[in-house]
Amino acid sequence: MERPERSKDLPWLRQASSFFTARIILTANNFRIFDHLVGPGKTARLLSRSLRTDLRATELLLNSLVAIGLLEKKEEAYRNTPVASRYLVAGNPEYQGDILRHYSTLWENWSGLDTVLKTGKPLRKAHDHASFILGMHNLALLRVQTVLAHLDLRGIERVLDLGGGPGTYAMALAKKGIQVTIMDFPETLKIARRLIRRSGLSARIRLVPGDFTSDDLKNGFDLIFISQIFHAYDAAACMSMLSKSHDALNPGGTVVVQEFLLNETRTAPLWSALFAINMLVNTPGGRSYTPREMMAWMKKTGFRGASAEVLDEVVLITAKK
Ligand SMILES: C[S@@+](CC[C@H](N)C(=O)[O-])C[C@H]1O[C@@H](n2cnc3c(N)ncnc32)[C@H](O)[C@@H]1O
Repeated sequence: MERPERSKDLPWLRQASSFFTARIILTANNFRIFDHLVGPGKTARLLSRSLRTDLRATELLLNSLVAIGLLEKKEEAYRNTPVASRYLVAGNPEYQGDILRHYSTLWENWSGLDTVLKTGKPLRKAHDHASFILGMHNLALLRVQTVLAHLDLRGIERVLDLGGGPGTYAMALAKKGIQVTIMDFPETLKIARRLIRRSGLSARIRLVPGDFTSDDLKNGFDLIFISQIFHAYDAAACMSMLSKSHDALNPGGTVVVQEFLLNETRTAPLWSALFAINMLVNTPGGRSYTPREMMAWMKKTGFRGASAEVLDEVVLITAKK
């Protein structure tokens, strides 16, 4: 048997230490280093003074961020690369710093994976709700226009956004003149309310505090949007959500589910296979699901004509009442 060249044989060895890279980026983001390096940049000494951090540690971290490609170094000054400027400086439209803060919290829980493997139970030691919900807003802002372009909104007047989180999708729908109801936990709605008020769309968005696993949904909706929710629940809970949605829809109404795409082997794409572990660590019964699994639930709960559309890393599953 021919042995592969060693260099081709070892990507897993680098992957096993890829937490070095992750931790460096997360720590830099936690200290808002990219905000501090806007413009002409700063030396390690100046930055460590502003941040009140150790000079040697700061310089080593900055050098590693140059190696990663998020900073540039010119003589002794460090400044953001175009990518860092676009995504990691607060206030920019495509800012991703909140989701990185959420990942930094998840780190605590992922450290318990050895235990989770034995018990099968989540180990959710840490949770920062504001970073989680604002992080959802960061991610949804990258995707919302593409998703909307793939929804058939003809004749749609009233939408229920189940677990609508920060309200990113609700705001985009409201901008099109649609009345949207978001049902979510009260602590989430506090954050959503702030963002929606800032957008000037409060009149078209109704916020209903509640737990959709135990509370009834209102009714009279033309479309129910269930985005990035199923992966946190087991199959029975997802089917119960679909069943309640069926009752809450007007005749001929539409349900649309958005989830990360997982192929039928459940082993790819990589992100969805890894994300299933994120749900293992953080929820009692969640994981990533395949389009076929979700379409089967829709059929069982009375929906018809379920179809799946892949949009890059996510899939939209649509069906009719
Ligand atoms: C992963 S976020 C998705 C947010 C949004 N739908 C999106 O796609 O950007 C999940 C949301 O569901 C909400 N949620 C989870 N379980 C819920 C429940 N049982 N009742 C109400 N809201 C829930 C969370 O508060 C959070 O806002």
